[in-house]
Amino acid sequence: MLIDPWQQLHSDRATATKAADACANLCYLATVDAAGEPQVRTLVLRDLGEGGLGIFINNTSPKWDQLGTGVSVLVYLPSLSLQYRIQASLEPIAKSTVDQSWTLRPDTPKRLDWLYQSYQAQSSVVADQATLLSALDAQFPDVPQLAPESAQGLKLVPTQIERLDLNAQGGPHHRQLFKRERDSWQALTLIP
Ligand SMILES: Cc1cc2nc3c(=O)[nH]c(=O)nc-3n(C[C@H](O)[C@H](O)[C@H](O)COP(=O)(O)O)c2cc1C
Repeated sequence: MLIDPWQQLHSDRATATKAADACANLCYLATVDAAGEPQVRTLVLRDLGEGGLGIFINNTSPKWDQLGTGVSVLVYLPSLSLQYRIQASLEPIAKSTVDQSWTLRPDTPKRLDWLYQSYQAQSSVVADQATLLSALDAQFPDVPQLAPESAQGLKLVPTQIERLDLNAQGGPHHRQLFKRERDSWQALTLIP
């Protein structure tokens, strides 16, 4: 049977969503910073339709400059005892799609996204939480309706996918590595 691990990931995420898995729509994005230090953070992994998955981030954030030509993304679905490790290159998501998704964000993230762009970058230091709140109220007393230019979306284009299935009863876990070969995948079994 021909296995498409990308389709399998979609199917597993859908099953995890039905099981109310808190991690069903999340991923962990790993990068390397300018000092060569590893950095990892949780992001929402969004379904873009037509088999696409993407991440939405602000280009003032440190992670933006760490993206390079590709990233490593981890998905863990505790409800299914499955781990996916994904190597992917990135493609910009059309601004119209980013804008559409952005309008669905809660009010505070919307105001923050504008604050990053016009006041102080995401992840930069502020004196304290009260200072941040006053800046937010002073700069953006009303909720902006349109996404700032700094709000970006990136589609993952997987080049390598490793699926670790912890469900084997008694035997070793099932660990498969899939390498993209043009329009198909080469499947390898790894010792878990
Ligand atoms: C459940 C959860 C979901 C998150 N989703 C996003 C997201 O979709 N986009 C984003 O930029 N940050 C998201 N964050 C915040 C990031 O983990 C991170 O703190 C922030 O983006 C700053 O990262 P950086 O300093 O490495 O650039 C999320 C955090 C959590 C805990």
